[in-house]
This record gives sequence, structure tokens and C-alpha cells, in this order.
Amino acid sequence: MRILVTYASKYGATEGIAEHIARTLDAAGHTTIVRPTRANDDLGGYHAYVIGSAVYLGKWLSEARKVVRRNTTALAGKPVWLFSSGPLDVAITEAAKRKQLAEATPKHIAELTKEIRPRGHRMFSGSLDAARLTRLDRLVRMSPGGKALLPDGDFRDWSDIKDWATEIALELDELPAGTLPDDRRT
Ligand SMILES: Cc1cc2nc3c(=O)[nH]c(=O)nc-3n(C[C@H](O)[C@H](O)[C@H](O)COP(=O)(O)O)c2cc1C
Repeated sequence: MRILVTYASKYGATEGIAEHIARTLDAAGHTTIVRPTRANDDLGGYHAYVIGSAVYLGKWLSEARKVVRRNTTALAGKPVWLFSSGPLDVAITEAAKRKQLAEATPKHIAELTKEIRPRGHRMFSGSLDAARLTRLDRLVRMSPGGKALLPDGDFRDWSDIKDWATEIALELDELPAGTLPDDRRT
């Protein structure tokens, strides 16, 4: 099956997550194309989609929001999964971490969910290299409480990401015939 993994990333953390997802799907026998999201992309031509974005100030990057809105018709009825990369101050225990990640989900994901009915959305912890931030992002980080919420470091949980991609591969294998386009065998 041909799967598009497309991502919006400012500093590369989300790109790394997208590539890890793509590698896992490839290893499960799918043909995966991974590429950065452009707002004016037409997303037709794939059997399934994984779409992700970094979260800045509570929102997906604009190109990711726009590409989903632009492609609601192409995506509706196809298997779609969404992911976000964000929280850096993640709690230590697994249960607390799940709760905290869920609470950090951007509010507009609920809207996108209504429009394209994805099979799932997952919030992953992210990564931040303070030395690489733009002046504006550095100012946001230096605002009161900013450093505590946006600590420097790589908090990406590679096994969590791999497990999620493995679940996607299993779900795709289990889709009943007729759910997919006729060229399923390609
Ligand atoms: C200025 C700034 C604002 C951020 N705002 C949020 C936020 O609102 N919610 C969140 O979960 N993460 C937030 N983050 C963390 C980023 O989403 C995280 O570092 C992400 O993994 C970056 O991905 P990228 O390198 O692909 O852009 C913020 C980071 C910066 C620098």
C-alpha cells in the first residue's frame, strides 16, 4: 500500500518523528513517501495518510492546518492518522505522561477530526534546541514561565512512536476489502 507521511516542522523534531513512522511502515511492507507539508499540496493518489505538525503556541503550524482543510474531500473516506509533536516538560510516570500529552492536544484537532474523521490522533513529546531558536521564539521562551514549559532537550520517545506506527500498519492490514481503492495490491 502507498502511504504518504507528511509533516510540518520548524526545527526538525517533527521531521524526525515522521521519518521514524515512515521507516516502521516500510518495515511492515508498505511503500511510504515522507515529505514536508506545503500549504498548497494536493494530497490525492495514496491509499493512506499520516499527517503531523509541531505545535507552537497551542496550534499546528499553518501549512499543516491549511493542507488538511484544502484536502478534506481527498482525505474523507481514506484511512488518515494525525500526530502532533510538542510537550517538552513531560511527566516521568507513563500514566501521568499520557494524561499530560492528551491535555496538550491543540483545540483545533477536534475541528479537523470532524472534517476528515481520522482513525486516530497522537500527541508525541518533542525536542527543542534553544541555541537554534529564531529571535521571536527565543523571546517567547524567555517570557515568564517559558523556560519551565520549554526546556532544552530531546524528549522524543522513539519506542512510543514506533509502537504507534506499528498499530497503524496492523490496522491497514486488517482493513476489510472495499475500504481501499481498487489498486490495493500496488
Ligand atoms: C516558541 C515556542 C512555542 C512552543 N509552543 C508549544 C505549545 O504551545 N505546545 C506544545 O506542546 N509545544 C510547544 N512548543 C514545543 C515544540 O512544539 C517542540 O519543540 C516541537 O517538538 C518542535 O518541533 P519542530 O522542531 O518540528 O518544529 C513550543 C516551542 C517553542 C520554541
